[in-house]
Amino acid sequence: MDTVGWGVMGAARIAEIAVIPALRQARNARLVAIASRALPRAQEAARRLGIPKAYGSYEALLDDPEVQAVYIPLPNALHREWTLRSAAAGKHVLCEKPLALSAEDCEAMISGCRRQGVTLMEAFMYRFHPRTERALQIAASGEIGEVRLVRAEFTFAVRTPRGNIRFDPALGGGALFDVGCYAVNLCRAVLGEPREALAFACTGPTGVDEVTGGLLRFDDRRLAVLDCALTLPRRQEYEIVGTEGTLRVPAPDAFLPGTADTELRVTRAADSRIVRFSGTDQYQRMVEHFGDALAGRPLALPPEDAVGNLRVLGALHASVRRGAPVSIA
Ligand SMILES: NC(=O)c1ccc[n+]([C@@H]2O[C@H](COP(=O)([O-])OP(=O)(O)OC[C@H]3O[C@@H](n4cnc5c(N)ncnc54)[C@H](OP(=O)(O)O)[C@@H]3O)[C@@H](O)[C@H]2O)c1
Repeated sequence: MDTVGWGVMGAARIAEIAVIPALRQARNARLVAIASRALPRAQEAARRLGIPKAYGSYEALLDDPEVQAVYIPLPNALHREWTLRSAAAGKHVLCEKPLALSAEDCEAMISGCRRQGVTLMEAFMYRFHPRTERALQIAASGEIGEVRLVRAEFTFAVRTPRGNIRFDPALGGGALFDVGCYAVNLCRAVLGEPREALAFACTGPTGVDEVTGGLLRFDDRRLAVLDCALTLPRRQEYEIVGTEGTLRVPAPDAFLPGTADTELRVTRAADSRIVRFSGTDQYQRMVEHFGDALAGRPLALPPEDAVGNLRVLGALHASVRRGAPVSIA
């Protein structure tokens, strides 16, 4: 498959501001159609964004034989259903984070896609940024010694919470699912699978966690500390601390650097070096990678990774409910 025919499921904000522009630029993608629950919304988005076809239902998108892959930016609680329906229609699926609301749902999605012979990937675009790739390489290289601690944070303030999917518990809202998933993903990418989770949250009036702080224990020598929020100023940063030094990907844009030039800093005793990266579009890199995987290249972020992430997110949620540490099977 040289050029992938893409369909977009839902006139979502993230589709409009980031993924549709990336699909337009990608060397191996062809935007075929967009679908919305409301046809006028799909038509308006298609006109504005230069997409050839508009559909008034997600089913109609799945009936289009020109659509080979779908991008799913629906509310988190709908990821499982529409991934499975897309797979049943023979479409490959790039689905937004978090891939599901539980590890069990995620496993069901993986087996559904496998049964239909379609590829599934979680849209963790930050993993495709060269700065992230380099940070993980440096952490694994031993340059900062044996990594013992990771600290990761992602907070931002939703301007209009009313009507925002992030504040609706029935749609899979909350800070942990929305942005804590990045911090958990980064900690796991560096340290592997944790054994235990402890978290406290400030729950807002709609019942979702608005501000959450968490601790992960990997073994007797390795820990991670993370925080996330929907109601605090924009902060995205992570720090990887080894026995010989530290690596810091600085605020305010560790996970969402846009297309600007970026850097990271490695410090060992009195020495400090800055590694610089030219601006790039991590969303475009992600969709190109997915297209390459459909053409036979290995998938860098297999969906099984999302099962691990959801196990940890589930344990953090359970710890908030119990007010005590929770073991991770
Ligand atoms: N990777 C990233 O950088 C990034 C950034 C932001 C969000 N996300 C993820 O992308 C997904 C969408 O986030 P978003 O901020 O773009 O949300 P959004 O603007 O609210 O879009 C969600 C879309 O889902 C559709 N939808 C279907 N059923 C719905 C329901 N019951 N309530 C509300 N919308 C419904 C709507 O499209 P129609 O009405 O047109 O059908 C809506 O436009 C989430 O999974 C989120 O975690 C990822």
